[in-house]
Amino acid sequence: MKTETIKLNSLDDTRALAQKISEGLRPGSVVALTGPLGAGKTALSQAVAKALGVTEHLTSPTFTIVCEYETGRLPVYHFDVYRVHDEDELFEIGFDEYIHGKGVCLIEWADLIEDLLPENTVRIRLEYGDSEDERICTITTADSCDDGSGYIFTGER
Ligand SMILES: Nc1ncnc2c1ncn2[C@@H]1O[C@H](COP(=O)(O)OP(=O)(O)O)[C@@H](O)[C@H]1O
Ligand SMILES: [Mg+2]
Repeated sequence: MKTETIKLNSLDDTRALAQKISEGLRPGSVVALTGPLGAGKTALSQAVAKALGVTEHLTSPTFTIVCEYETGRLPVYHFDVYRVHDEDELFEIGFDEYIHGKGVCLIEWADLIEDLLPENTVRIRLEYGDSEDERICTITTADSCDDGSGYIFTGER
């Protein structure tokens, strides 16, 4: 397991991080996003989708659990599981198919469904920093997610 902590001084830093993350994403990648409201889970998801070439604006899927975006290099499945109260709700929308699918799963509030996350999940925690636009980002990857090149490799090789 590898943990890296990065200070993001602005939204631009968050976008640059998203670019780097996107380069390591593969079909079947799962990114778990945690941290308090307003920390930047959606902002980071938007930037990752954009970096993958998604042309639509990614909005918060609060009332639908998942939104699909198919216009990028890889399909993006953007989840917000904040209002999911039992696992059946997720199975009903085909959570397993998304997780093992051809796209990238970006899951906000993923700590609420910890037991359902696959082994290759990349965990990204965002916290508030000292100033308005500062965020502290902690990325944890399983050994199986990193080939040593500095990129995050998840899902299929
Ligand atoms: N460095 C930063 N990274 C991400 N978001 C930032 C940053 N600085 C300021 N923000 C702002 O913080 C807010 C984050 O909101 P959002 O992404 O919806 O949070 P969450 O999804 O975690 O509730 C946005 O208004 C965004 O513009
Ligand atoms: Mg959000």
